[in-house]
Amino acid sequence: MSVLLTNIGELVTHDPAHGDGPGIVPDAAIVVQAGRIAWTGPAASAPAADSAVDLGGRCVIPGFVDSHSHTVFAGDRAAEFAARMTGEPYTGGGIATTVAATRTASEDTLRARGQALVREMLAQGTTTVEIKSGYGQDVATEARMLRIARELTPETTYLGAHTVPAEYADDRAGYLRLVTGPMLAACAPHARWVDVFCEPAAPTAFDEDESRAVLRAGLRAGLLARVHGNQLSAGPGVRLAVEVGAASVDHCTHLTDADVDALAGSDTVATLLPAVEFSTRSPYPDARRLLAAGAPVALATDCNPGSGYSSSMPFVVALAVREMRMSPAEALWSATAGGAAALRRDDVGHLRVGARADLTVLDAPSHTYLAYRPGVPLVSEVWKDGTRV
Ligand code: NIG
Ligand code: FE
Repeated sequence: MSVLLTNIGELVTHDPAHGDGPGIVPDAAIVVQAGRIAWTGPAASAPAADSAVDLGGRCVIPGFVDSHSHTVFAGDRAAEFAARMTGEPYTGGGIATTVAATRTASEDTLRARGQALVREMLAQGTTTVEIKSGYGQDVATEARMLRIARELTPETTYLGAHTVPAEYADDRAGYLRLVTGPMLAACAPHARWVDVFCEPAAPTAFDEDESRAVLRAGLRAGLLARVHGNQLSAGPGVRLAVEVGAASVDHCTHLTDADVDALAGSDTVATLLPAVEFSTRSPYPDARRLLAAGAPVALATDCNPGSGYSSSMPFVVALAVREMRMSPAEALWSATAGGAAALRRDDVGHLRVGARADLTVLDAPSHTYLAYRPGVPLVSEVWKDGTRV
């Protein structure tokens, strides 16, 4: 059965066949067949299909690809957020609070939270999401987080090396052996990716050599690498991510010229997470510097209870446009095709023929409204694998 989606006021395809940049088709239609995009173009020349849906002149964009989230956890840190808004700095120290809550939570509690957040994301137009472990920091809880995450998405990331838990405070080497040994063995079957919080400026996170050991062990176990880097300082994260061929280095808030050059000369995507700078009241990353250098840039939420508890890609797009001077088209590309690149996926993030029919319908005439009308629930329907969800 094929379905014609027609009377689309503005269709954003990221298809070079429809022009450079966003590949916009005005007054457009899409034909969906077997969960994939079978045709896109002007509605006036659309082929026949088994059924038709009139989208009433609304805008259609590719479903958002949120390539960085921590949506399986227990508890909250609203008090930490409130303290930050009256002057406390963000240090990553609060992660221990979430680890304590997550270790003692039941599997059902963790699953319910993860499901609720992924539903919340879907309602805001996100059709692909990555989810990390990292609030267990013991073998059983890390594996439990990843089993639950796997029920929600194929894009699961082993982040045993998020921070060193309190019981290993005097034995970092012992925790590294756990993370690269028995914990990795228990988690790798449920994960596609390995990640590390590489941040010498945070006392409980990991330095360059420790981070390299974590990533290399994950790669040996068959996982692909991604990195939390350069969030609080111009540390070694970007350098290391490029060195190991990571798909993405995430945060990139503090970069040296050498970091920018390294990113521009590599396949490693710079993933910016401006909801974190919003929620930690920090200076935003310099997106224009990366774009000017030719580095690939993605945008993601980093949805987590500590550094930024937003599940909203439209909010991230609005921040990127207003605070980071990305154009609406650049921000949308980074929140869709850029996220797909950060996950090494070519079946999502665009609406070229053959792509998954994952698309978001905006109650707006153009994608610019994502930033022009911040905070307004513009997502009116979402299609995943060719089905309205
Ligand atoms: O991506 N930076 C490290 N990890 C998370 C924050 C985790 C937390 O504060 O709970 C991040 O910002
Ligand atoms: Fe994160």
